[in-house]
Amino acid sequence: MNRETQKSKSESTVIARELSFRFGTNQVLNHVSFEISAGEIFGLLGPSGAGKTTLIKLLTGQLKPDEGCAMLLGRDTGKLQAAEHNRIGIMMDNFGLYDRLSVYDNLSFYADIYHVSRSRIADILKNIGLYEARNTAAAKLSKGMKNRLSLARALMNDAGILFLDEPTSGLDPVTTREIHSVLEAQRKRGATIFLTTHNMYEAEALCDHVALLSRGRILEYGTPEDVRRKYNHLNRLMLTLKNGRTVSLENSSASALQIKEYLEQEAIETIHSTEPTLETVFIELTGEKLEACADRTGI
Ligand SMILES: Nc1ncnc2c1ncn2[C@@H]1O[C@H](COP(=O)(O)OP(=O)(O)O)[C@@H](O)[C@H]1O
Ligand SMILES: [Mg+2]
Repeated sequence: MNRETQKSKSESTVIARELSFRFGTNQVLNHVSFEISAGEIFGLLGPSGAGKTTLIKLLTGQLKPDEGCAMLLGRDTGKLQAAEHNRIGIMMDNFGLYDRLSVYDNLSFYADIYHVSRSRIADILKNIGLYEARNTAAAKLSKGMKNRLSLARALMNDAGILFLDEPTSGLDPVTTREIHSVLEAQRKRGATIFLTTHNMYEAEALCDHVALLSRGRILEYGTPEDVRRKYNHLNRLMLTLKNGRTVSLENSSASALQIKEYLEQEAIETIHSTEPTLETVFIELTGEKLEACADRTGI
């Protein structure tokens, strides 16, 4: 690899090396390491309290790690300069929004700071479904709309790296799909996206790589397919019998005789396999669910 390629790779990636962080005696992050390649969507998946928001704060220089280091655009995140700040977009709760300003004025404030034309604002607002609300004060927006304004703000400077903290949390399915299209479009234009979610379907649908975070530790990392494949031992055969009983069998030749018997007795009503999902993998690893009511809502 020549120096030029090395430079562009390190400039366009996010690197966490053995990051640890405590709030008082609460060890919130524990030796967290990963690398994000340019142009990918990386999903940090974990339940509430896992440490996702804290990790974003460490990666964007809002907090300093107790141990380890975080690198962004080739620089330690504790030493980010204005040039780097201008190349990242951050969306998190109440980050950089002015309650008393209208939706439009919030964005024009940032257009001026980033020296981008105000003419972009209308496009971004249409894209994100907030154009109709452009004259509403941020304080008067619903949680979902505020989320979208926060995302619009993060998109104002065509950032190379986007940090999005639960971008679709609390949104209805239609808006969630719209946000997903916006994120796909951002990836197409070459942006690298770090997003946190506790929705495994979102992670499976969008992310090139996922990391499963529980109590401050990364328990698994890989493409969603690889992570699921690794836990294929969770794949079972579920049979519903005509007498109303359900039977769960190992999905292997070990179950062949038993199934043959049921077939000969014409006892089977339905049969299906249970491919592991990121949710079942998470439960296997931690005994916890990612969210209290995991369902397909929102995707
Ligand atoms: N400002 C803070 N002061 C003290 N503890 C905090 C603070 N912010 C977060 N925590 C604690 O850190 C842990 C991780 O929180 P957080 O990073 O917000 O998790 P997540 O975003 O995954 O829900 C939780 O135990 C939370 O109570
Ligand atoms: Mg959080």
